[in-house]
Order: sequence, then structure tokens, then C-alpha cells
Amino acid sequence: MKLQWSHAVVRVRDLDTMVAFYRDVLGLAVSDRGPLGPGRPEIVFLSGNSSDHHQIAFVPVRGPEDASSLEHMAFRVDTLAEVKLYLERIKAADHAPKFRPVTHGNAISVYSFDPEGNGVEVFVDTPWHVRQPQGEPWDPSQSDEEILAGVRERFASEPEFMPMEDYRAQQAARFGEKVS
Ligand SMILES: [Fe+2]
Repeated sequence: MKLQWSHAVVRVRDLDTMVAFYRDVLGLAVSDRGPLGPGRPEIVFLSGNSSDHHQIAFVPVRGPEDASSLEHMAFRVDTLAEVKLYLERIKAADHAPKFRPVTHGNAISVYSFDPEGNGVEVFVDTPWHVRQPQGEPWDPSQSDEEILAGVRERFASEPEFMPMEDYRAQQAARFGEKVS
């Protein structure tokens, strides 16, 4: 299992101030924003490169007593087999963490926790971009082909659904990256 660092999701108290800091001081751009569901708080995604839809995201759910602001950190792997392997390992882990298989349309993820309760997401990209936030369960007992077909069927009608390479080309132009 080969991990690449992708992003962190952080609980914040003042969404606008935090977004402004990361946008204006660190130079990231808002890549998407929207409610996590009906009546739920808004999540704001920011990125500064074309390879990650977001490098950091903020959700305004950090209460005055919350010591930790970390919601989760996320690692990209190259294959769905590795996401399934993470799921098997986490099921066998000593601290018996909870886990959730979730697809965002642009990724197929397993969310779980490390022994101190920090959220850990392991995901593989899908071939498609989908506007975020999105989240649906997926069934790890299905074959890779069945899972991907299910993701496509669920998200193909979403606005902005497009091949990931087209989205990345768009973002590369936005961020002034050289095309090799
Ligand atoms: Fe994530």
C-alpha cells in the first residue's frame, strides 16, 4: 500500500476568516463549497494545484470546548485494491475502530480512525470529477468493476460531471501550471 498525502479537513470556528486567510495569505483558491446535507453545515474546499480537488477543507463545527480541530487527514492510493486492503487492516486493528466506505464520485474512500481518534481517509481517484460535497456509501464486497460502474451511474447526472483529466487541465490552467 503506497500512500501519497492529499488533504486535511479541519473543524473551524470562523469559516469566513479561515477561508480568507488560506486564500489571501497562502494563495489557495476555493474549489467548491456547499452544505454537507439538508440543514447541515457548509464545507469549503481549497486547493492550489490540479492534482487535488482540495488540499484543505473547513467545516464550521468547532465548539469552544473542542481541543482538536482535526476532522480527518487523507491519503491517496493508486488502486481500489489498496482501499479494500486498508479496510481489511482496519477491521483487524487492535483498537477496533469504526469505518465507513464512502464515495464522493471523484474518489472512493474508506474513513476510519487512528488509535487516538484522529480521522484517517484512504482513497483512490475515480476517472471523473464531480462537484463537491457529495457522499454515498459503496459496497466493498462488490468487484472493482461493479463499484466503479455504480459510482458512474450514481453521479453521471450531477452538474459538472466530467472526465478527471478535463477537470485537471482546467485547474492546471487556473493555477498557471506548466503542461508537460
Ligand atoms: Fe477527505
